[in-house]
Amino acid sequence: MMKVLLINGSPHKEGCTYTALTEIANELKKHDVDSEIFWIGTGQIRGCTGCRVCKKNPGKCIFDDDICNELIKKCEEVDGMVIGSPVYFAGINGGLSAILDRVFYAGGINFENKPGAGVVSCRRAGASASFDRLNKYFTYNKMPVVPSQYWNVVHGNTPEEVKQDIEGLQIMRTLAKNMAWLLKSLKDEPTPEYEEKTFTNFIR
Ligand SMILES: Cc1cc2nc3c(=O)[nH]c(=O)nc-3n(C[C@H](O)[C@H](O)[C@H](O)COP(=O)(O)O)c2cc1C
Repeated sequence: MMKVLLINGSPHKEGCTYTALTEIANELKKHDVDSEIFWIGTGQIRGCTGCRVCKKNPGKCIFDDDICNELIKKCEEVDGMVIGSPVYFAGINGGLSAILDRVFYAGGINFENKPGAGVVSCRRAGASASFDRLNKYFTYNKMPVVPSQYWNVVHGNTPEEVKQDIEGLQIMRTLAKNMAWLLKSLKDEPTPEYEEKTFTNFIR
């Protein structure tokens, strides 16, 4: 069975972001797609130091003292991923930003062609900027971005409030339907033959 990793980037294990991800998990199940919620927790997470050791050893961050390498492995094993974040000061949560920079810098090359989607939860404002930030990780890494019927946002300060966001929850279900559809459509499709990647620091 195909599987989607649902990353809960909130320090709240079962808060608003979790509520949105659970709606996605339940809908995926209806379409015979398995899922797992991975909570980033409240422990210390380093930011990327830019040492670039991972460029010589792709798929692994040199710092093995937090969840980074565990999360890279999880992302490698699944067929698609959804990354959920609460909105903090109109951006994604700092801990999530720190871990995603490292997960995608070290491991992104191994996630190519896996469909991905971002989801954000906010009380009032800053949702679309945070949503844009999450999408950057996918579009950098040749990952098809799964659409919904609107931008992937739920509103609420508590899970109970999120459950009252009828439109937000429908957006989550539509996203899950599209994720299942895309996964099945792409299943036996050969991936494009890409050119060797050029990397120039200047435009001329
Ligand atoms: C440090 C901090 C900053 C926040 N900044 C915003 C914000 O800029 N805009 C907003 O609408 N909500 C903001 N919130 C509220 C959360 O985004 C909102 O309650 C979210 O749904 C919580 O999700 P969670 O239960 O999964 O952690 C902030 C909360 C915290 C703790």
